[in-house]
Amino acid sequence: MTAKKVTVATLAAMRARNESTVFVTAYDYPTAVFAERAGVDMILVGDSAAMTMMGLPNTLEIGMTEMLVFVRSVCRGVKRAFVIGDLPFMSYQAADRDAVLNAGHFVALGCDAVKCEGGARISARVRSMVDAGINVMGHLGLTPQSLSQLGGYRVQGKSLDAANRLVEDALALQNAGAFSLILEAMPSETAAYIREHLDVPVYGIGAGPQVDGQLVISHDILGNFVGDIAPKFVKQYAHIGSDIENAFSAYAHEVRVGHFPGPEHCYEIDAVQEAEIRAKRTQRTSSTQS
Ligand code: KIV
Repeated sequence: MTAKKVTVATLAAMRARNESTVFVTAYDYPTAVFAERAGVDMILVGDSAAMTMMGLPNTLEIGMTEMLVFVRSVCRGVKRAFVIGDLPFMSYQAADRDAVLNAGHFVALGCDAVKCEGGARISARVRSMVDAGINVMGHLGLTPQSLSQLGGYRVQGKSLDAANRLVEDALALQNAGAFSLILEAMPSETAAYIREHLDVPVYGIGAGPQVDGQLVISHDILGNFVGDIAPKFVKQYAHIGSDIENAFSAYAHEVRVGHFPGPEHCYEIDAVQEAEIRAKRTQRTSSTQS
């Protein structure tokens, strides 16, 4: 791991060396700082914030207003890692101008790149952002912004035909100037097949090991996702959710039985001043009682 800022060139060199890139999501300042200290290479401020941070049922209800807060918080915590802002639903689909302006907001806050979902059908958008000087990551496979078209959270690319369609989409994105791709929820063989058609780095989330790096949603790694979705590809490395709940329960108990705050949590005062205040309180108590 190098302490130098991760750039598009660093990521391309990692692909050339067959070195796995470590990629997580983050949505807030402390998580970004901890990820950075752990030496994570890439951070996605995902529109998954809709579900992880806001308790929404899917990613369709989050917009630029909310994403800008998450992006600003993460960018403040990161110096070395490569930060990608995820363009939310309808921030880029309608027109090139929307795509460029919204991507520009993320870059102005410190993002190194943006990500958008879809293949050939959004390649013109990708080209417009790249032409505006913005690094773009493509996203193929399970693309949650098209959930109803996909028929739900389904594994993608399960036949040669489907894999070939994904390759065409991947090539369209690469030709439009995308610096990398993320593949979501597909068999390892399909992901490897797509990767070998491309020159740019290809990352996976639920796409097996034969890619240039792994992305996992931080809440899934840390164990603080509140919701019903538990994808097969997730591995939990901590139990932050139950740690938080246990800490709140212990605090609630101590407040209720009077153990918190203890003397060590209270501010001291000069003994003479303290005696004067106490005398005044005693005087007030006896005057209200008489
Ligand atoms: O929003 C997100 O976290 C994503 C990843 C699942 C790729 O788009």
